[in-house]
Amino acid sequence: MSSSSQFLSGSEIRQKFLDFYAQRGHQILPSASLVPEDPTVLLTIAGMLPFKPIFLGQRSPEFKRATTSQKCIRTNDIENVGRTARHHTFFEMLGNFSFGDYFKEQAIAWGWELSTQVFGLPPERLVVSVFREDEEAYTIWRDKIGVPEARIQRMGEADNFWVSGPTGPCGPCSEIYYDFHPERGDDKIDLEDDTRFIEFYNLVFMQYNRDAEGNLTPLQNKNIDTGMGLERMAQILQQVPNNYETDLIFPIVKTASEIAGIDYASSDEKTKVSLKVIGDHVRSVVHMIADEIRASNIGRGYVLRRLIRRVVRHGRLIGIQGEFTPQVAETAIALSESAYPIVRVREAQIKAELQREESRFLKTLERGEKLLDEIIQRVKQEGKTQIGGRDAFTLYDTYGFPVELTQEVAEEEGLTVDESGFNAAMEEQQTRSQSAHETIDLTLQGSLDKLAEHIHSTEFLGYTQPSSQSQVEVILVEGKSVEAAEAGTQVQIVLNKTPFYAESGGQIGDRGYISGDSVLVRVEDVKKESDFFVHFGRIERGTLRVEDPVTAQIDLSCRRRVQAHHTATHLLQAALRKFVDESITQAGSLVAFDRLRFDFNCPRPVTSEQVQQIEEQINTWIAEA
Ligand code: SER
Repeated sequence: MSSSSQFLSGSEIRQKFLDFYAQRGHQILPSASLVPEDPTVLLTIAGMLPFKPIFLGQRSPEFKRATTSQKCIRTNDIENVGRTARHHTFFEMLGNFSFGDYFKEQAIAWGWELSTQVFGLPPERLVVSVFREDEEAYTIWRDKIGVPEARIQRMGEADNFWVSGPTGPCGPCSEIYYDFHPERGDDKIDLEDDTRFIEFYNLVFMQYNRDAEGNLTPLQNKNIDTGMGLERMAQILQQVPNNYETDLIFPIVKTASEIAGIDYASSDEKTKVSLKVIGDHVRSVVHMIADEIRASNIGRGYVLRRLIRRVVRHGRLIGIQGEFTPQVAETAIALSESAYPIVRVREAQIKAELQREESRFLKTLERGEKLLDEIIQRVKQEGKTQIGGRDAFTLYDTYGFPVELTQEVAEEEGLTVDESGFNAAMEEQQTRSQSAHETIDLTLQGSLDKLAEHIHSTEFLGYTQPSSQSQVEVILVEGKSVEAAEAGTQVQIVLNKTPFYAESGGQIGDRGYISGDSVLVRVEDVKKESDFFVHFGRIERGTLRVEDPVTAQIDLSCRRRVQAHHTATHLLQAALRKFVDESITQAGSLVAFDRLRFDFNCPRPVTSEQVQQIEEQINTWIAEA
């Protein structure tokens, strides 16, 4: 093993990490999907997430020790991507886990050995942090590992107590940092200074569960959860100024710059930011689509859409005309197919989804450009020199125009943009979207009632037309809201408008079909839930997606037969009154396309002679139409 750091490719780092722990009794497990089983988060945000039920004692582990390279996405800091050296949406987290097996001392010893012996980081370039109250960790670092006191930093709860979410397994943690500038001296250590330090390895001593009130209960077992940012370790070992210039991401940046006909190295800062955003986001969207997320307006589908749109927008900012995302996606696929073969398996779906979203968004952008032209003309006609904040916000929110783009265009026309008005509108929107954020959890619970706030009630067209051009608003599978569903699935669908009658007053709902671009759904029943018409059916072929334009077509012969049976209940009642008893009224009924049932109360039994008379009378009325 080397004792000084050397250039390692991203793949080599990943493999060395896994091998190191495999040699120490850890089972290498594959990365879980980005779509977590855990309903409290939208996407897999950490390597420990797939093991949460084990930490909580809800599932027993197959192995006491495991190691993984987990695909993760975090979008809480999306605005920082490309602007700092190491913010990402997509990243790979290397982790070693102990489920009630080894604990603090062993985890620290191995973490140190791996960092210094395998990756060859000089000990004098490392600084560690511990949770302020964790004397045990402090002592291990100082006495067993031999880290000088000045290079062990005590940190507060915000930094060194790790929780997987608002509630869940948690514990104090200890982090290992790399020092790019040891010459600045041990007396000036400030781990927040990211021009000097980078945190690359987090060791969590997972021993509590936190409830919604913040109470900590000890877990049955003491566990270890660690996370090493692969991209960060690559930045250190490849000695590049930021994560985007590592071999894990730079080829994507390069492809984008070639399409734009520019050179990364000689580009200005703004262009570099756009290229980095593309480099980061393209990895996210490739893996999200590979994990079967599809662009939509809710939940993780919305995250995907937002990321794709940001890629397209930044592409335009650096001068790319027309569609380019499938081409950059190819580079991202080639980069990760050896570690995550699923991206090549799903290559066609990835490229098709990107192409679809991109062309749709480009049309939106064109409309935005037109609107901006109109706004500029209006502002000028009114003799003003400033574009209103609200207008700028509409351009941003509805047409994906970043305010900088609006400013740029405005400037060319000798105008400015009311930035504070824009910020105010943005703040308002953020308050609104906090409640939309709840949609995320709500959609996972899949309750239509709860979705009600976010979609419009169904427009019913069935009085006047047997078919309509509609859009898919919601797809539910087994009560859960999904972004897409495949052939063979039983689904419940809400459309923005429908010609389908819903079941009501004993009359069954219409039958028919919902069809779209190579997708066909057979509608077997329709029910009304508050203001929504819910179409129950089965996907016969293709994939149905939220937001798909579709044709909703009722089965007219079924509708006619139901109408006939409805009329027949009136005839039956009239005949019963005529031949049996004047006082007979309907007590209940069922009107289906193949039969009807009519319930009534009658003081005496109906004779077979009366039944005969009733039949003849009704047939006569029908014959007379
Ligand atoms: N769960 C911890 C983190 O995400 C360590 O893996 O940082």
